[in-house]
Amino acid sequence: MRILGIETSCDETAAAVVDDGRRIVSNVVASQLAHQDTGGIVPEVAAREHLRALDAITQQALRDAATDLRGVDAIAATVGPGLVGCLLVGANYARGLALASGLPFVGVNHLEGHVYANWLYEGDLAPREPEIPAVVLIVSGAHSDLVLMEGHRRFRLLGRTVDDAAGEAFDKVARLLGLGFPGGPYVERAAREGDPDAYPLPRATVADRYDFSFSGLKTAVLRLVRSLEEKGRVPVADVAASFQKAITEMLAEKTARAAAEHAVDTVLLGGGVAANGPLREEIARRIGHPLRVPPPRLCTDNGAMIGAAAFFVLRHRGTEIPTAVRGDLRLA
Ligand code: KG4
Ligand code: ZN
Repeated sequence: MRILGIETSCDETAAAVVDDGRRIVSNVVASQLAHQDTGGIVPEVAAREHLRALDAITQQALRDAATDLRGVDAIAATVGPGLVGCLLVGANYARGLALASGLPFVGVNHLEGHVYANWLYEGDLAPREPEIPAVVLIVSGAHSDLVLMEGHRRFRLLGRTVDDAAGEAFDKVARLLGLGFPGGPYVERAAREGDPDAYPLPRATVADRYDFSFSGLKTAVLRLVRSLEEKGRVPVADVAASFQKAITEMLAEKTARAAAEHAVDTVLLGGGVAANGPLREEIARRIGHPLRVPPPRLCTDNGAMIGAAAFFVLRHRGTEIPTAVRGDLRLA
């Protein structure tokens, strides 16, 4: 089954063609540049940019797959969670295409997309599917969810952030340090030259055992940077490395503990922050075996993950298929 997957929930305009929920036939992602000056996403600007780019991106994805809508079996789009104006652009466009071509429309939960990015592959040789049950850590610009995947599309929330998302913390620290947007890749790059033990930063303890909290860490970095500024120049690499070590340990500790407690071998990662090398290494070290993580470009938002998730939505219809756009859609 061949699915056209469309993603517009945040600031990536993306479309892809995916076979049987796994094989990437084409995958086109346009990251909006309009937000670099504001250092954050203005929803109206993002929606307008999607509107401008989406048709061309979709046509490109079909062309790259050497097909058109006659060669596709279903059209999928993210229906939440995300910025409502942005979601509407992608979902309405996809629904229109589906209606015009007589194809089924599949609404996809963006977070399920990040999970099913772990099923994707490129090329002709299919790697083995991830084993279920699995513990999944979804860490993006808007989410930090620790989830037990009990079966296909059966998710149990173990913990989530009580304040900022992990990606948000990366973005805010990057802004403090005068680095670019989105902040994660910039912080990771700067941290390579820095000493992760240069500054002791707090690791939050949250009452609920698997919940995360990053606002204390963020405030600590803010205070540190202000006091360093008073003394003179801020050693950006050392601050970035110390922050990255703290947040990475917080995420890895709970993820590994959840895997141990639920006696689960498989740990899956998803969301933009999962592209972070030291985070992957730290989790692998703590669970004691290598992780199979999507390559960075499949961790950040893309259409292929939506095409993959849509396949499993159609195959496991047991749970409700969302069709209306919902900004606050949840995974579990
Ligand atoms: O999943 P995603 O592309 O969009 C959302 O669904 O939010 O995640 C974007 C987030 C941003 O906050 C970005 O700074 C972060 O992922 N990110 C990273 C890295 N690459 C992207 N954070 C840490 N290290 C990275 N290499
Ligand atoms: Zn995302």
